Amino acid sequence: MADIQSTTAAAPLIIRRSDYRPPDWLVPEITLDFDLDAAATRVHATLSVVRNGGQDRPLRLDGDGLLPLEVKVDGRALGPDEWALDGGALVIALPGQAHVVETRVELAPEGNSKLMGLYASSGLLCTQCEAEGFRRITFFPDRPDVLSRYTVRMEADKARYPVLLANGDPVGQGDLPGGRHWARWNDPFPKPCYLFALVAGDLACNADRFVTMSGQEVALGIWVKKADLPRTAHAMKALKDSMAWDERVYGREYDLDVFNIVAVADFNFGAMENKGLNIFNSRYILADPETATDLDYDGVEGVVAHEYFHNWSGNRITCRDWFQLSLKEGFTVFRDQSFSADMGSRAVKRIEDVRILRAAQFQEDSGPLAHPVRPESYMEISNFYTATIYNKGAELIRMIALMLGPERFRASTDLYFERHDGEAATCEDFVRAMEDGGGVDLAQFRLWYEQAGTPRVRALLNHDADAGTAELVLEQTVPPTPGQPDKKPMAIPLRVALFDPQSGQHRGDQLLMLTEAKQAFTFTGFAQPPVLSINRGFSAPVIVESNRSQADLAFLSARDDDPFARYEAMQQLMVNVLVGSIGGQPVDEAAVVAAIRHTATDPQLDPAFVAEAIRLPSEAYLGDQMAVVDPDAIHAAREALQRRIGEALEPLWRDIHARTKANAFSLSPAAKGARKLRNIALHYLVASGAQDGPEIAFGQFHEADNMTERQAALATLANGASDAREAALDIFYNRYRDDALTLDKWFQTQAFAFHPDTVQLVAELREHKDFTLTNPNRVRSLFGAFAGNQWAFHDKSGKGYRLVADCIIALDKINPQTAARLVPPLGRWRRFDEGRAAMMRAELERILTEPGLSRDVTEQAGKSLE
Ligand code: ARG
Ligand code: ZN
Repeated sequence: MADIQSTTAAAPLIIRRSDYRPPDWLVPEITLDFDLDAAATRVHATLSVVRNGGQDRPLRLDGDGLLPLEVKVDGRALGPDEWALDGGALVIALPGQAHVVETRVELAPEGNSKLMGLYASSGLLCTQCEAEGFRRITFFPDRPDVLSRYTVRMEADKARYPVLLANGDPVGQGDLPGGRHWARWNDPFPKPCYLFALVAGDLACNADRFVTMSGQEVALGIWVKKADLPRTAHAMKALKDSMAWDERVYGREYDLDVFNIVAVADFNFGAMENKGLNIFNSRYILADPETATDLDYDGVEGVVAHEYFHNWSGNRITCRDWFQLSLKEGFTVFRDQSFSADMGSRAVKRIEDVRILRAAQFQEDSGPLAHPVRPESYMEISNFYTATIYNKGAELIRMIALMLGPERFRASTDLYFERHDGEAATCEDFVRAMEDGGGVDLAQFRLWYEQAGTPRVRALLNHDADAGTAELVLEQTVPPTPGQPDKKPMAIPLRVALFDPQSGQHRGDQLLMLTEAKQAFTFTGFAQPPVLSINRGFSAPVIVESNRSQADLAFLSARDDDPFARYEAMQQLMVNVLVGSIGGQPVDEAAVVAAIRHTATDPQLDPAFVAEAIRLPSEAYLGDQMAVVDPDAIHAAREALQRRIGEALEPLWRDIHARTKANAFSLSPAAKGARKLRNIALHYLVASGAQDGPEIAFGQFHEADNMTERQAALATLANGASDAREAALDIFYNRYRDDALTLDKWFQTQAFAFHPDTVQLVAELREHKDFTLTNPNRVRSLFGAFAGNQWAFHDKSGKGYRLVADCIIALDKINPQTAARLVPPLGRWRRFDEGRAAMMRAELERILTEPGLSRDVTEQAGKSLE
């Protein structure tokens, strides 16, 4: 095994989109026979292969760490000189047009720490194949444009693995001598191998049913450890809601008799949409009030929906190659975002989604790892499951939907599903369906798929009192990104409204298409200078710079009828004050305090919206507004403003905190909104420095009957140094020490805290007996959270950088995919002062000198230094 592995670690190759070539061989049918065992699993694969096109190339079956124990063609065992291994792949010269090829291999799931392929997770055996994990299970053309019908037989010890699941429908099962048993599953839908899945283990089932719009009954199952069954109700509700929503909104019906979901504790990302057998990180399935925050509940709902929606946008229509990844991911994120908006508050969902986009995608787009939504090349595809592919990809679909309007957008998606069902399609196929179904020309819009970088739009509004006109001058620039020094102007849909400051009204929302580098739009009938509301609803994923005054922003923060624009005006007001004070200007906090007071006391507003609007922008977002990020100055300015807001409105915070105390837990929007507002009120109250602040926080921590309030109180306490801090952390630890998902919060809260000793505390937590590099959730809780804590991670000692780099180096040997995810924070060195930049570069260089470094980390660290 070991020397086979090392042959696969050849010099990193660059894969290019322009090199795409259809497969040489197709595999219409595959039969897989698994003899399952954690230490030694045997896999017997039978492939019917058919030559594709008039060429005489040999059959090449990808493999990663596999050694063939036997190779047969048309029933005859091949001699060792009749096949070859090339970079892990099995190469066989075949004479005819169609053959049956059989291979046998042996795997060691319990030794698979990469969590790709077949692996063991707390007593279960499960698989993860996207993107290229199937080649770690058996020899196969591991590319998404090879679609096959799968029949899977599993055999295992019945006591250890009483439940045997795979894709499609169960077609048989039985007992075997020696305490063993078997099961057979058959998936009638041809699928690429990245959608293959199996699970074996001792699982309990939350069983339910759904009747589809054409009257088909579907058996639903959510499979978890028996003790976790009571925590599956929310996921089941989300699943049924998703199935109904996809019928109602997109006309998409489920297509198998069963739909199963399995939760596993060790998982590299959120979840996976395997046909009929979704496999989830348990954090996106399990939820109850004692352990899950409202954010966790929303995460469960959103991810269950996302994976379910993939059944059409991903499985029925898959990707031709991995450069098209956003075809399924961008569209599916857009679908899950729309679903969640329909289930809860549309306004708040949009604000949350934009905050994530700005925090993750805008940062990516402005750094060394920037890439287009449809990339041109990659070294390791796992590195391209990014905010750009997912979240910017979703924004592209959202812009198309906006330009088309709801009816034409639905006609276009109908056309897309009809035209490409059963195919491996491209982003270009999708755009063409939007054009043909919607009757629009998206020629220029296609640049959004090609050009990386976040466009900047300068918006200047000029008023001509004599003519009674307002002229809006829009200018766009798209910054250079790696490999793309010069950019063309994009097609940018901007929703705008012009407010009359006297009446507080506007004359309607308009959609302006900015298509030139510079363009002017004239509006008549304005005796007074109007106030500009622009990029309403965040209609385009761009950065808008405008000449609006603080007074204009204050007006919009109180009057704009578009909730996103109203939120945005408030944020901009705060950003201007904070960035001004960092730049040494006198701090005019009065405008911010007044706007917060106005918003927090407006009885018309949804409390959840209020909580979003009155929150100060994050330290990272403030950093994004500066030419050179100064983490210490940002932290000091933000803390100072927070304190002033706390002091100035102290009675209000006390009042909100007191009146949002609920009697009994509920997940109603009103109850969730009240908790959100209560937590921010607590935060400001503690920030005010009021003597009883820590006591009130500790009281909330102690009395809460739900994790949303308990964790928020803990987080507030974790920022300061008080006896209550230590007491709360101890209580929390002792209460949840045996519950991994909740213990993650204990690590995360400390890593994310604004505490002067965070770097030291994280170093100590790394040595904690409950910390492990083998569980990705735990690693993300400590190091992912820490790398997102701008003030602590960028500690000028450089110790934060060293901690993260040490973690990357150690983790790379265990789980390179998860290790590579920690590299981008170090890659942002160009944004910092020379001292910090030099230390960050030094850590990246140190990482790159590690012998045997994975392709995953090599690509991310290498590109970060270019
Ligand atoms: N397709 C999965 C989803 O629903 C994610 C797979 C991630 N794979 C990876 N190699 N990072 O989004
Ligand atoms: Zn997805």
